[in-house]
Amino acid sequence: MAENWATSESGHDLHLELTGTGGLRAGLMDALRDAIRVGRLRSGIRLPSSRALAADLGIARNTVADAYAELTAEGWLTARQGSGTRVAARAAVSGAAAGRPPRPGAPRLTHDLRPGRPDAAGFPRADWIAATRRALHAAPAEAFGPGDPAGRIELRRALAGYLARARGVHSDPDRIVVCSGAAQALQLLAAVRPGTFAVESRGLPHHRRLLARAGIRTVPLPVDAGGADPAGLSGSAADAVLLTPAHQFPTGGALLPERRAAVIDWARAGGGLVLEDDYDGEFRYDRQPVGALQGLDPGRVAYLGSASKSLSPGLRLGWMVLPPPLVPEVLAAKGSWEPTVSMLDQLVFAELLESGGYDRQIRRMRRGYRARRDQLTAALGARLPQLEVTGIAAGLHAVLELPPGTEELVLREGERAGLGLTGLGWFRHPEATCPERDGVVVGYGTPPDHGFTGAVTALCETVARGLSGPRDPERPERPEQRKNQVAQVNQVTQT
Ligand SMILES: Cc1ncc(COP(=O)(O)O)c(C=O)c1O
Repeated sequence: MAENWATSESGHDLHLELTGTGGLRAGLMDALRDAIRVGRLRSGIRLPSSRALAADLGIARNTVADAYAELTAEGWLTARQGSGTRVAARAAVSGAAAGRPPRPGAPRLTHDLRPGRPDAAGFPRADWIAATRRALHAAPAEAFGPGDPAGRIELRRALAGYLARARGVHSDPDRIVVCSGAAQALQLLAAVRPGTFAVESRGLPHHRRLLARAGIRTVPLPVDAGGADPAGLSGSAADAVLLTPAHQFPTGGALLPERRAAVIDWARAGGGLVLEDDYDGEFRYDRQPVGALQGLDPGRVAYLGSASKSLSPGLRLGWMVLPPPLVPEVLAAKGSWEPTVSMLDQLVFAELLESGGYDRQIRRMRRGYRARRDQLTAALGARLPQLEVTGIAAGLHAVLELPPGTEELVLREGERAGLGLTGLGWFRHPEATCPERDGVVVGYGTPPDHGFTGAVTALCETVARGLSGPRDPERPERPEQRKNQVAQVNQVTQT
């Protein structure tokens, strides 16, 4: 089983990149040779089964089995009945000996536990292929002309039904504008509503940067276990407020009912706009998903949704459900033709929604993420019982709370171990006045299934090492420092 590989050895993920033009088998063989050559796969390490690796890479099992067989014949691997396929003794040489410096660019991580990424192996390839066939057969000829900036009507109809049913969004196709994700939605809304936006004091730096580039000033609202506290909104200069009400990013609370009401009251009183980022609202584990805030007042809330967590962030598919007066303004900001989202992807996604394939996908991913969350919290509870894990009721990440002054030490250990981790400080608004809080935000969506056990073990060991190390009095643990020292390896790599 794949888990044997993950647990019997160091449990490293393979992180194979199938590049080159020689076909999948040749690409896989090159990637494996490369990993062995530079020592990422050490002598004796057991490889995942051909079935597990094929599933993770999304290729045929035979391709993996053939690649293993050829590398065995070449002497890179050994295959023995009952003990699986292993890296042959003396096959590994160092990167220096192989004369291959690490490729510049993306850091090589042994395990990637950065938040914000779904399980890439979870993309429903077969359903997408079937939906593509149906969509292409059904598409009218005009679909192949320039795209409507509002998005395909088939998709807007399907989304209106789905969002009302699954997220409690008050919606009809005329209020929906398709876009390439929450990031583009924010850019468009910033263009039509310039001014000052209140944002959560801990949030995605990428979003704050987007807003800043669009000339928006952001002011922080304190965040606690009940989400953002809107008390400061009334006295502020904010024209709009950006919130993650279903699952605060990254700390994980759901916005308290009285705060939801207060946000709507503020918007009604002064004509403010509420931007609701519902980035992972479907992934809730303890009870029914928290419904969208937009349902409370669809005339005041711009609802932003995205397929980045449920399908793939590479798809670049998202949607806005807007107060009606905003629709023509946003469409004007987009231009006369759809500039970003492929017509075909829109039609295929509409098919997936209408056929129930998307609901199945959400259920499947929810089950998988829930199991990972349970495994993570059980392991942390057993190995680091003194630490609290918060924000675990929903989503694809959890917060491991750390004693004051230790976040930097843990991140440095993570960097040494090649573990992709992001500190809580990374998300803090530069003007936030809320107290410093040490912790790491652990994304449990990204490691492949066969490497998850190893990733959790590495996390526990890394944190334990970080906590047992001496605290350096010369190095106060401040977010600005984290940014400089750890950003290259550990930052959330959304750009
Ligand atoms: C807080 C938050 N909002 C929204 C998104 C989705 O962004 P996009 O739709 O631009 O991929 C993410 C990341 O996936 C996120 O972490």
